[in-house]
Amino acid sequence: MLIGGLHAGRISLSSLRLDHTGGNFAEDALERLREYGIFYCPSWLEEPVLESVRQEFELAFSEVRNTDPAQLTDEGKVPVSRYGRTRTGAQLRFDNDAEFVNRLPISRAIFSQDWMADLAGSYLGIPCTLNRHIILTDDFDPDQEIIPHHFDEMNALKFYVCLDDIDRENGPFQAIPGTTEPTSRLRVNEWLRHEKFDDVRQRVFEQHNEEVIHALYGQFKATLRSRELTFQVPAGSLLVFDTDTVHRAGLLSPGRRRRIIRASSYRGIWP
Ligand SMILES: [Fe+2]
Repeated sequence: MLIGGLHAGRISLSSLRLDHTGGNFAEDALERLREYGIFYCPSWLEEPVLESVRQEFELAFSEVRNTDPAQLTDEGKVPVSRYGRTRTGAQLRFDNDAEFVNRLPISRAIFSQDWMADLAGSYLGIPCTLNRHIILTDDFDPDQEIIPHHFDEMNALKFYVCLDDIDRENGPFQAIPGTTEPTSRLRVNEWLRHEKFDDVRQRVFEQHNEEVIHALYGQFKATLRSRELTFQVPAGSLLVFDTDTVHRAGLLSPGRRRRIIRASSYRGIWP
């Protein structure tokens, strides 16, 4: 006898939506991260700041456009380099250093706010390293999926800002809330087995079988996937998530574009 239906325990999008100007924001943000691994703030950046960030983004890409981007690795992973190809576009990666300050001063200010430091410290523990890496992503080559369900090899707390309106057809961020803790165990196990970045099997549904998924998550793949949420959000929206929360970026239709800036914070002192 089955007790409870397919939707039992499913999380709603509205329960993850927070107003960053609200009085209980700090407490609510921490609670959502601990419980679900993710929350979001619609229209977190507004004009004219949002337009200024877009201009920094465009300028940064224009400065490297005549250089050759690094290509995907043999395992299909995005290269760790300044300017690289992805399957559906290109990315620019910065360290949070003097060069980043000089070239993207507004973005730097946006990713250095006190509340982010407080949240990172509370969630990751102290010491931690706030927004150590900042990645600008421009997706424009259509595909059924920008990146499939995965966890990031190096666990991070990510602050992810959308520079375009996001709908179902320009690579919406999609996540399965509440999967953070079991995915963490999968990630650590992968590192213990393989010890190499490129060998970590990060594609949760493609690279792990039904039995492993059920052992970890208490659900088979179809049920787990049915709990996915799609974040269709206006430009300027902020998503904050633990990268152990199973996530992906979805369909990119022909003629569509998706620009994102995301920053990664880590446990401990990241040199
Ligand atoms: Fe990711």
